[in-house]
Amino acid sequence: MVIIGAGECGARAALALRENGYQGTVTLIGTEQHLPYERPPLSKEAMVSDEHPLPRTIAGSEQFTEKQIDFIGSSTVVAIDRPAKGLILEDSSRVSYDRLLIATGALPRALPLASGSRHCVTLRSYDDALAIRARFRPGARVVIVGGGFIGLELAASARKRGASVTVIEAQPRIMMRGVPEEIAEVIAERHRQEGVVLQCGTGISSIEDTSGHVTIALANGEAIEADLAVIGIGAVPVTALAEAAGLDTANGIVVNAWLQTSDPDIFAAGDCCAFPLAIYGGRRVRLEAWRNAQEQGALAARNMLGAQEPHEAVPWFWSDQYELGLQVAGLADEAAHTIRRDLGNRAFILFHLAADGRLVAASGIGPGNAVAKDIRLAEMLIARSARPDPIQLAASDVKLKSLLAA
Ligand code: APR
Repeated sequence: MVIIGAGECGARAALALRENGYQGTVTLIGTEQHLPYERPPLSKEAMVSDEHPLPRTIAGSEQFTEKQIDFIGSSTVVAIDRPAKGLILEDSSRVSYDRLLIATGALPRALPLASGSRHCVTLRSYDDALAIRARFRPGARVVIVGGGFIGLELAASARKRGASVTVIEAQPRIMMRGVPEEIAEVIAERHRQEGVVLQCGTGISSIEDTSGHVTIALANGEAIEADLAVIGIGAVPVTALAEAAGLDTANGIVVNAWLQTSDPDIFAAGDCCAFPLAIYGGRRVRLEAWRNAQEQGALAARNMLGAQEPHEAVPWFWSDQYELGLQVAGLADEAAHTIRRDLGNRAFILFHLAADGRLVAASGIGPGNAVAKDIRLAEMLIARSARPDPIQLAASDVKLKSLLAA
């Protein structure tokens, strides 16, 4: 069993192969030198901790040794030789496989205007995080391009470190991807309170380095000088290897319900794959989310061992900015109307219902973990394609648990 990609998904798959009793060889190949580590802290705790942050590893080297997982770091696979069932590595060495999992993830989308600048960076890896952290100094002028998850979490972290922050977002508001306007507005207001300048609906016309800083010219004629610009304008799935090997791709590596590609011996999982989501009528989606990577890694492992178990989980993601915790379960884009439930202490949940009354998504915002329990219950309702009574959904004295029982 060979896994390309030693991120959340690949690492979970390697561990799950052993948990499911597989006794043959397990090889996990990753481009980074570090043992597989958690990425969510990189934009949050790792940016603001007083102590120098260490990678938060998913499993330590002892665990890999004990489980006899052969981790090959600092190594890039350059080709999949399907007829020979082997991989070719950068140093020309070969690794053969019976079953292969592609868990190559996604990489930050590049902003061509920023390509020549020494002051424009992106965040994906632990090493990227260290480089950014070193430049989030008190008084530093930071521009964030992209008001999505990475951009806004970094904006909050940069403010905590005492930098001044401007966010430039091309769309008319922040978090257009997957977050309803009512919740995005709470987050926007919280950033403004912290002194973050949010510039939405603004294109960039040029980016130029000048002695020691970068000047970002906006389409509206304004120019912003910054010591550092972080580009967080989305992620693109890493599919080149799969494409070159002739596997089907379409916004990700195309897989069936049990994460098998167009080659039955090759599976793909996590950020890099486009899979049919049963609870939304088999609609094909690609998710960039930590929990999805974990679940699909573990599921791919079982299916590589022959289980043929479909992926049925409800999509879920979260973001922490300042003291606010945001959580979204399901896909809100199929919703026809929205019901609000107030939870007290400025926390609330929005339930997104399809035209036929089915609960298709729920999103919530509040201090700390305020929305976590109810989002978890909403997720169970979504998984059952429940059609809860809108009046009861709105009534905060009606326990969601009772709707689940109904
Ligand atoms: N200029 C300004 N903003 C832009 C531009 C541009 N040229 N192009 C895109 N944007 C904006 C989008 O409108 C969007 O609001 O950048 C934002 C990107 O947000 P996301 O799609 O959430 O992607 P990002 O924040 O980069 O996160 C990438 O990392 O943590 C994960 O879940 C996260 O998978 C996501 C990935």
